[in-house]
Formats: sequence, structure tokens, C-alpha cells
Amino acid sequence: MDLFEYQARDLFAKHGVPVLDGEVIETPEAAAAIAERFGGRAVIKAQVKVGGRGKAGGVKLASDPEDAVAKAGAILGMDIKGHTVHKVMLAQTADIKEEYYVSFLLDRTNRTFLAMASVEGGMDIEEVAATKPEALAKVPVDANEGVTPEKAAEIVAAAKFPAEIAEQAAEVLQTLWKTFVAEDALLVEVNPLVKSGEGKLIAIDGKVSLDENAEFRQPEMESLVDHAAANPLEAAAKAKNLNYVKLDGEVGIIGNGAGLVMSTLDVVAYAGENHGGVKPANFLDIGGGASAEVMANGLEIILGDADVKSVFVNVFGGITACDAVANGIVQALALLEEKGEQVTKPLVVRLDGNNAELGRKILTDANHPLVEQVDTMDGAADRAAELANQK
Ligand SMILES: Nc1ncnc2c1ncn2[C@@H]1O[C@H](COP(=O)(O)OP(=O)(O)O)[C@@H](O)[C@H]1O
Ligand SMILES: [Mg+2]
Repeated sequence: MDLFEYQARDLFAKHGVPVLDGEVIETPEAAAAIAERFGGRAVIKAQVKVGGRGKAGGVKLASDPEDAVAKAGAILGMDIKGHTVHKVMLAQTADIKEEYYVSFLLDRTNRTFLAMASVEGGMDIEEVAATKPEALAKVPVDANEGVTPEKAAEIVAAAKFPAEIAEQAAEVLQTLWKTFVAEDALLVEVNPLVKSGEGKLIAIDGKVSLDENAEFRQPEMESLVDHAAANPLEAAAKAKNLNYVKLDGEVGIIGNGAGLVMSTLDVVAYAGENHGGVKPANFLDIGGGASAEVMANGLEIILGDADVKSVFVNVFGGITACDAVANGIVQALALLEEKGEQVTKPLVVRLDGNNAELGRKILTDANHPLVEQVDTMDGAADRAAELANQK
């Protein structure tokens, strides 16, 4: 989960990374009092989860409170690379002498953590990496040892930070590493880390990405979620503990097991080529032990998706056998109808694996008008695509 700059700033402050005072607002008028508090001048910064805001006109210097209101007004509502600005942060102004770059990230390829640092900060670091790779120091960080004073000094030396700020830079790296570990981050990045006129290092812009797998031990992570940006179907699925991802097609997909669901998406996309180009509407894995309730929850989410025209339920019976899944489907439809949900979309069900025969019989006997069975995965995908294209 990527955070907004102001959220990154708060985490930095919590762990001792030097930052400037800042405050987030959603209306231009609120800018005046804050600029006043900062002594008149303030930097107005668009809060969008995308880089290069400065170049896009989303970072502006205001010279007085009146100017702050005008500039906040100009930036609020702006579109930056497809992201609408709903919030701006007012930050104190820094007297910038130099701009550096520092980050820690999970290096999956090398199965370690990685520190990156450069004296060429401020601009696009990808550009530095591409055009001047020697200017970007990369130092592996051992998970067990972390960033000790010695490791920090090694990073500082590798990046060739000037001697007069070496000690401060090592300090910043250690507090930044503390942030990375304590918050279960996958990335903490400061760009730029600036040297001020007084020779002090300050983190001016921060990017933090948190590991959602650690949510169980990070009680505050939930409060950082941008609910306004979340897809409502994904949010509803998450609340029901379902493994759901919204896609942009028309065929709703339910399956048991992530691998099966992934291949179902492929098969449906392929079948759709013969049926007007329909595509999968979602990924939904209800897992191995799907009860009637889980099936009902899954169906409810998918049937509630206005884009869905047909549903493909693809189940391979394992620990939970096909008869249990078939009963689950029958009960799920009854449950939804009891709740007053109008089930009007056709369901194509393919049952295979453990107790497939029995499961098919249960569905045949239930004789639900919207449920149709096809024995093969390809055949069922084709039928579901055909039905989606007819609607
Ligand atoms: N508080 C500030 N004081 C002075 N200059 C700033 C401040 N914040 C940003 N800047 C300047 O604007 C540039 C871009 O801002 P930054 O926050 O890095 O946004 P982005 O990386 O999205 O463009 C910085 O490199 C810096 O030169
Ligand atoms: Mg930046």
C-alpha cells in the first residue's frame, strides 16, 4: 500500500527522520492561517500517489498567506497523471543548497534489503539510474544486522556524500531504517533529502509503501488506507475477507484456489474472443473450504457488479468435495433470494474432482432456472462468454 507524502512525513517524524512542519488541507481558505503560522511563506504540495508532482505544477511556493490561498486553490482539483488532487500539504519552506537521494527497499531478486543513495537527488532517480548508474550507490542490507552505524557509514561512503554532512547522513539513514522496520515497509524513499543553508539535512519529500501482509501486527495501518480511492466492490469483498480483484470485463468469476482462478481468467479471456470480446470481470478465489456462506458472499459481490453479465463458477473438488460446493451454491442462491436480492444473471457451473458426479446431481435436482452446468472448463468458459455477449 502506497502512502501519501503527508503520511510518509508523519511516519518519518515519528521515528526521528528530520522533516519540516506540514499540514494537510482540503479547502484553499484553510491555507491562510497555516502560512501565517509558518511566517507567511509556505510550499503548497499536491497530495497524489504519483511522482513528478513538481514538474507537473503540483508543487508551488507561496510568498504570503493570500498567495497561499490562491495557489492552494489552483492545485486543489488539478489532474496530475490521472490523479485528481483532493488534498494539499502546506509545508515550511526549506533553504535548499543541495538535493540528495536515499531509500531502503525490499530487493526480491537478490533476496535481501537494499539501500540506495545518491548525491544526485531531486530529479527522477530512474533517470539517474539509467543515464548515470555510477552516481547511484546500491548497498545490500542484511535483514538480521540491519543498518548499524558501520553499515550507515558504508552507504554514506558508497554514495560519496560530502564529508561535512557524512555524520548527519549516517544518522538519517539509521532513523530511516528504523521507520522501514518498525512500520513493515517495502519501500521508504527520501527524494530530495536536502542540505539547508545552515548545513542541516532535511527530508523534503517522502515515499513509503507498506506491506499489507503485516496488517495483523500494524493496528494503525487501517487508518492510512485511502478509502475514497478504493473500489467499492473491492472494499466490500475485503470486509468479507474475500480474495477479490475487480477487472474490467463482463464475465464474473468464482473459483476455489488461486491457480485455478488465474487459469480461469485466461480461458474466459480466450473464449471471449469468439463472443464479442467479452472478458473476465474479476478475480475471486473462495479458497479450498468454501462454505455456503462464503459462496453466498462471493456471489453477492459478483452479482452486485453492474458490469457482470454472466457468472462462471469453476470448482475443482478437493478437501471440500463437489457435493458440498453444489449444496453451497443452492443454499447461496436461496440465501440471496431470502435477503431480497434479485438474482437475474445466468450462472454457468463446472464441477470436477472429488465427488463431481454427486455435486452435478445436486445442481440438476435443484433445477434453478439461472444455473446451467457444463462439464469441461473450456466448454463452461465458452458458454459463460456466450451468455455475457447476449445480454
Ligand atoms: N518544503 C520545500 N521547500 C522548498 N522547496 C521544496 C519544498 N518541497 C519541495 N520543494 C522543491 O520542489 C521539488 C519537487 O518537490 P517534491 O516534494 O520532491 O515533489 P515531486 O518529487 O513529486 O516532484 C523538490 O525537489 C524541491 O526542489
Ligand atoms: Mg520528490
